[in-house]
Amino acid sequence: MNTVKATLLLLACTLSLHAQKGKNDKKIKPKKEFVAELMAKMTVDEKIAQTVQYTADGTVTGPKTGINYIDEIKKGNVGSILNATGVKYTNMLQKLNLENSRLKIPLIFGYDVIHGYKTIFPITLGEAATWDLSAVELSARVAAAEAAANGVHWTFAPMVDISRDPRWGRVSEGSGEDTYLGTQLAVARVKGFQGNDLASINTVMACTKHFAAYGAAEAGRDYNTVDMSERTLREMYLPPFKATVDAGVGSFMTSFNEIAGVPATASKFLLTDILKKEWGFDGFVVTDYTAINELIPHGVAKDSAQAGELALKAGVDMDMVGGIYMKNLKKLLKEGKVTEAQINDACRRVLEAKYDLGLFENPYRYNDEKREKEVTYKKEHLDAALDVAKKSMVLLKNSNNVLPLHKEQKVAFVGPLVNDEWNIIGSWAASGDRYGYAVSVQEGVNKIITDKSKVTFDKGVEIIDSRRDMMKAALDNARKADVIVAVMGEFENMSGEAASRTDIDLPGIQKEFLSELKKLGKPVVLVLMNGRPLTLTWENENMDAILEAWFPGTMGGDAIAQTLYGLNVPSGKLPMTFPRNVGQVPIYYNHKNTGRPYLGAGDPEQKYKSRYIDVDNSPLYPFGYGLSYTKFDYSNLKLSSQTLNYSTKIKVSVDVANEGNFDGEEVVQLYIQDEVGSVTRPVKELKGFKKVFLKKGEKKTVEFEITADDLRFYNIDMKFVAEPGDFKVFIGGDSATKLQDKFVLVN
Ligand code: GLC
Repeated sequence: MNTVKATLLLLACTLSLHAQKGKNDKKIKPKKEFVAELMAKMTVDEKIAQTVQYTADGTVTGPKTGINYIDEIKKGNVGSILNATGVKYTNMLQKLNLENSRLKIPLIFGYDVIHGYKTIFPITLGEAATWDLSAVELSARVAAAEAAANGVHWTFAPMVDISRDPRWGRVSEGSGEDTYLGTQLAVARVKGFQGNDLASINTVMACTKHFAAYGAAEAGRDYNTVDMSERTLREMYLPPFKATVDAGVGSFMTSFNEIAGVPATASKFLLTDILKKEWGFDGFVVTDYTAINELIPHGVAKDSAQAGELALKAGVDMDMVGGIYMKNLKKLLKEGKVTEAQINDACRRVLEAKYDLGLFENPYRYNDEKREKEVTYKKEHLDAALDVAKKSMVLLKNSNNVLPLHKEQKVAFVGPLVNDEWNIIGSWAASGDRYGYAVSVQEGVNKIITDKSKVTFDKGVEIIDSRRDMMKAALDNARKADVIVAVMGEFENMSGEAASRTDIDLPGIQKEFLSELKKLGKPVVLVLMNGRPLTLTWENENMDAILEAWFPGTMGGDAIAQTLYGLNVPSGKLPMTFPRNVGQVPIYYNHKNTGRPYLGAGDPEQKYKSRYIDVDNSPLYPFGYGLSYTKFDYSNLKLSSQTLNYSTKIKVSVDVANEGNFDGEEVVQLYIQDEVGSVTRPVKELKGFKKVFLKKGEKKTVEFEITADDLRFYNIDMKFVAEPGDFKVFIGGDSATKLQDKFVLVN
């Protein structure tokens, strides 16, 4: 059993996942009965209050509104508060609320616990690079345990937006470009956050966001227009959302963007027809931050009343921060523009979630200061964060096996992030502590290299400003070293929300510094901390090794140092394509063939093809790519049959051998191409993956199964079916694999 599975098991044992009934818990009736009886006593004002959420004074996650949330709580006008954390603070707010709630309806506290609460794991794009579902579930489980112990009931996660555009800063919060991988990871996160009982004091309610297609913002500019066919929406962007409904997610969040002219927050098609009717979602829908107010600048509402009317009719159950529902719903009801049934349905959904969380039995069940101290930053949590961070490391280049480093080598560590404790935990790091808690690379190296004469540490340059006065000292030390390790990248706030970039090169004069380092004629290893794919064409040509570390979290410095010195063998694989330059974007592996596919340099027709005249079509590093310190060989690809029908399955097997000098893990990936369809189909699609551990010299046979269900898509009539015909199967260590076989699907 690998370490992550062992840790998950350990955590499952220690974190009793069943509701711990507190001594103060009231005995109450079954949910539907309890909520119906409660609502029968509620006034319209009290029902509307349940649809209202305001932000407290903690983390700022959006524009100021001027609404005084304390006053509103005192008036009994609030159902939920976000950005309030800590047992003391949430206790105070809950007490204030209950003193002013005629029917003693508790508040629900929401917070962005995206990749950890205090113990911070790699950013979720980095977690996606682990391709390890148990690791990702473990991360969410730890985050939930710490959040719940700190008074939080509800996290605004998982963010499941598929994105093919690294200019968009929020790729850092997602799972990359692929629907299949993103779907698996979304479910793992919901399981981790919610466990098997929302009333447990170790779990929180999850919130799938941002519904929908937020990651397809034109030009990668945050909040920008989204326009796509229903086929693309349903095939590429919706599956992770649907999978979380099937996994029992308690809530959804609408996205800021419009889709084909209709803002998601006013889209009855999305929120009611698809989510609540077609998928049978019975949780509640909260908007994103002031998203109802934004229907006015979107141009679909002339004023806040119309905005509120559109949102409620579309299926929005809770208004995040904007105050629109509190201000307008009662009047809209009187005017007959909304119905009491619509208000009742929204209120019911919110009350049922509070019931599931055990808040009616005991509104203070998550408020125990002793537990808060015991659970936060537990050693098991920090160990888990280190484990997941190590698995997130992606080795992009390693010429002449310059990595791993050896302890007797003299190594000059340089770069703006070499001793960083701030950016290393990334954006959306909830209540994670930076300085004094997060482990920097320098700290991690010093734990391994006790002979201090072997290592030097110099920033050399900053991340974005162009001061050069530190460069000389760094070059002087580098000149005396056997190997140079440059730790570079972005500020944590150069990705995440409202952080799109048009130029995705290494910022500032970092590349200039690398060029000076290269002139010293020694091996240069580039370690990257960044929240998105970067354009690294020059680095790929000029660096001897490149390790993608993302923002690896509280234990990040240990994870990076242990990887550099071979105590961890990198096994991560890219969840997103790295382009040669930003002009190729959007670029992704599961693209269409077009009528004039370019076959590369060997193509006999070099002009009239779908290509650029200045850059090859291929990416710098493809989806699913990642090296190891060892070498994995694939052979003996076999299908149990070349024919599949709608009731059989095909077994696919391949031998994977560890031909190198290190034990290591490999993510074996299965792709399928539907060669001819009633509509055009991607050149290949990920349909399975397995992460296998192989000792050096070991060989294993890895097996997958294919059924007709795996081949379904939205055909020319928008029916989700598998069509008979020819298919190709590809297996390998990344999406560019050429190892293939074929089969036919017959009626
Ligand atoms: C932000 C984000 C969303 C977050 C919410 C609450 O604007 O878009 O992801 O959950 O507001 O902080």
